[in-house]
Amino acid sequence: MNKTVALGVSSSIGLYKACEVVRGFQKAGLGVRVVMTPNAAKLISPLLFSSLAGTRTIVDLFAEPETRRIEHISLAKEIALLCVAPATANVIGKFAGGVADDFLTTLFLATRAPVLVAAAMNEAMFLHPRTRANIARLKALGVEFVEPEKGYLACGDEGWGRLADPEAIVREGLRIVGRSESLKGKTVLVTAGPTREPLDPVRFLSNPSTGKMGYELAREAVARGAATVLVSGPTGLVPPAGALTVRVRTAAEMEKACLEAFPKADVVVMAAAVSDFRFKETRGRKAAKAEIGPSLAVERTPDILARLGRAKKPGQLVVGFAAETHAVLAHAREKLAAKNADIVVANAVGEGLGFGTDDTAVRIVARTGPLQETGTLSKREASRVIFDRIEAELEKKRR
Ligand SMILES: Cc1cc2nc3c(=O)[nH]c(=O)nc-3n(C[C@H](O)[C@H](O)[C@H](O)COP(=O)(O)O)c2cc1C
Repeated sequence: MNKTVALGVSSSIGLYKACEVVRGFQKAGLGVRVVMTPNAAKLISPLLFSSLAGTRTIVDLFAEPETRRIEHISLAKEIALLCVAPATANVIGKFAGGVADDFLTTLFLATRAPVLVAAAMNEAMFLHPRTRANIARLKALGVEFVEPEKGYLACGDEGWGRLADPEAIVREGLRIVGRSESLKGKTVLVTAGPTREPLDPVRFLSNPSTGKMGYELAREAVARGAATVLVSGPTGLVPPAGALTVRVRTAAEMEKACLEAFPKADVVVMAAAVSDFRFKETRGRKAAKAEIGPSLAVERTPDILARLGRAKKPGQLVVGFAAETHAVLAHAREKLAAKNADIVVANAVGEGLGFGTDDTAVRIVARTGPLQETGTLSKREASRVIFDRIEAELEKKRR
């Protein structure tokens, strides 16, 4: 694979198993650079890992570098994955809190590579509400975890907290590294956010979409190596690095931007909450209240999903979204057929989920294959599930 993994090793007794993790990644053809916390280096000599990995183990953030490059930044750019095994409660807490006081925690903040954490600790520490909250916070940021096992712990207790099997850690790491190439050569068009349909320069018709789901989807497409075009309605979000972002305001502008990008797109993911209606008449100047009658005429905006569904070529995959308050599945299935989409991702709006929230729960309806339902997930995790399904459906189209 000709890629490098940074293996973070912190001061848990389980660190002896990290030797097997080094071996596992190497067997798969990956280069391994071990980064130990200074406390881990008190439990075992860094030389052990240097000998196994064939590269100098990094412990000290302030050590004189071998080259003129700043090592934590150059390594951060070079790696395809940061895998931390074992991760202590302390390291997890520092990652969650943004503390960067040694090489490993600084690398975590400096890298854009995916991060995989395999926790290991005493059961009480693992189940402590602070640790649970730190793990939840990291998961919401997109950090992936290999859950620890239940069993005999070094402290003599039985319970949850034993470092996962090295093979399981390596398997998960390889899956993540492999994913970073899985859409290479493909172009993905994602729409996000609401549209605003003006009445005049100070009033508009819109909806509460914040664009979070669409931005996460675009980030996931970039992470999988796709050339990504993000057509975004007005949002306060920072677009993912690596995506070509086209900002639009109205449904008509969004349609135009989509039609431009569509011919080159292999996958279209329409996550935007396009306003269904716009005012029939708009004004160039602010209208006085008295000028506006008791009712305002509206008309339908262009149905972008239906238009792209009709224009779709055999190799292209079109994904629609359906945010519903009721009869979620029935509406999703209707939408799939009516818009000639390949996949419809449905989500119930309300009860803390939907517009503007960090979490979602989705049901994926496709032309082929089973209905897929997730429990409550962060929108980042949901975007992974959605792209896994997109890739599976793309593969079927190729056959
Ligand atoms: C022998 C020994 C074993 C330890 N095992 C663990 C462990 O499995 N998990 C954990 O979170 N902390 C464990 N600790 C406590 C951590 O080493 C301690 O919290 C330390 O400050 C963590 O530093 P680091 O995260 O920078 O490596 C252990 C400590 C000792 C002395």
